[in-house]
This record gives sequence, structure tokens and C-alpha cells, in this order.
Amino acid sequence: MSVFNSVRKVTTHVLNEMKLKGEKIAMLTAYDYSFARILDEAEIDIILVGDSASNVMAGYATTLPITLDNMIYHAASVVRAVKRALVVVDLPFGTYQGNSREALASSIRIMKETGAQAVKLEGGRQVVESVERILSAGIPVMGHLGLTPQAIHKFGTYVVRAKETEEAKRLMEDAQLLEKAGCFAIVLEKIPAKLAEEVTLSVRIPVIGIGAGAGTDGQVLVLHDMLGINQEFSPRFLRRYHNLHDEIKGAVSAYINDVRNRQFPNEKEQY
Ligand code: KIV
Repeated sequence: MSVFNSVRKVTTHVLNEMKLKGEKIAMLTAYDYSFARILDEAEIDIILVGDSASNVMAGYATTLPITLDNMIYHAASVVRAVKRALVVVDLPFGTYQGNSREALASSIRIMKETGAQAVKLEGGRQVVESVERILSAGIPVMGHLGLTPQAIHKFGTYVVRAKETEEAKRLMEDAQLLEKAGCFAIVLEKIPAKLAEEVTLSVRIPVIGIGAGAGTDGQVLVLHDMLGINQEFSPRFLRRYHNLHDEIKGAVSAYINDVRNRQFPNEKEQY
């Protein structure tokens, strides 16, 4: 029997077993109760309360402005909806970098105030101390390498990372350092598929890709992008499974029309 079919609650242990058995892991972002409930009913394995909430929920151009309080609000809403999926919460920019004690304090707030099961942070060797300190409190940590959006002002652009040998070598080393430090999984964002596959084969922990090809142990997408709510963002790696933008706009236009033409409410829709 597959690990997937026998699971009541997805844990980091379950994800490890899925990697061992070669079963692919499906992960999506969510930021609120209603969507999280649908994702969980559909049996998504991991829900990431991503700091992409800064873009898709709050309308900022980058992930930098979102605060720890904002992330806790979103994560607590998601956790209230979820029975099965593992819920992972992004540590937002400025709450862990360069200070492992602050990283632990931020993670403890997330765990205490949301009920989530893990945190995620961006970076390689520079966050190893933070990973170890967070883990010392028994909090599972997911890593994130490649295009790390919190460092966008250092990169200067959202183009594919690690195409050059030097950066690819560094990324491979970072993945191994994160595994050694105790991360239970790693996200690889927007790197060449061949490199992502090599990283996936070189570590025992699950590797989840976004724009990293088919050779990783699982995939993640931003919910609003894959549902077609957000129409402005169309990188090559994004598959749109729906065009909710147009569907919702059509429904709203129909409602406006009905109100303006006195078609809503009708006799049956009143007391
Ligand atoms: O914040 C986010 O949504 C993410 C995913 C893109 C992996 O980190």
C-alpha cells in the first residue's frame, strides 16, 4: 500500500517514507481558512503558509514587507482548517537572518500562536546556526535554496539561479549542509532541472521543487498563480490549472447587473 493512501496526518516522518518509496509529494501555498480547507479536503500533502502572502494577499511587490504578526494571522487561519496536511510557515524577512536566538524566538511564536508543525527559512550556510538552534527546541525546519525571494535586492532579478558552475557547486554544498544541520526537507526554486535532480539524489531528505524540473521528490506552486487568480505572473514553470480570475470577474459582473436591473433579490430570496 502506498504511504499516501494510509496517511491520516502527514508528518515529516511520512514525507521521508514517501521519498524512500519514490512517491511524489504535492505542496501548495495557502493563507486563509477557506482555501486551506479545500486543499486539505483534496488531500494535499503540505500546505505552505508562504511569505508570498506579501505579494498575493497584501499586494506588495516583494516578500520583504510582511511581518511576523501578519504571518501568524495567516498561519493560524490555515491551521484551523487543516486536519491532514503538514502545515509549514515561512519565517518572514528580518526575523531570523544573522541572529539564531531571534530565529528561535520567531519560530517559537509561530509554533505557539498558530499550531503549525514546521517553519521554513531561506538560505544555505549562513542560516545553519539558526537551523540548529530552532531544531534544538524540537521545531522541524524546511530549507529553501536557489531563487530565494527575500534576497531579491541582492540578486537584482528573478532569473534562473545557479546556471554557472560556481553557484551550482555552492548550492549543492548548501543543500548538504542543511541536511546535516537537520532540515527535514528543502525547497529548490528556479534552478536548472539537471542540478535540482543531482541535489535530490545527493540528500536523503525530500526535495520540493518550484521551477526546478521533474527530478525532485515533489512540487510546490503558489495557489493564486496555479488557480489563475493572479494573471500578471506567468513564468515558464507555472502551469495554470484554472482561470479563476475570469470566472470570479464574470460572477461579480453578473451580480452587479442583477442589482442594477432589480433582478436580485427576487421574491424567493427575501423574508
Ligand atoms: O512564499 C512562498 O510561496 C514560497 C514558495 C514559492 C516556495 O516560498
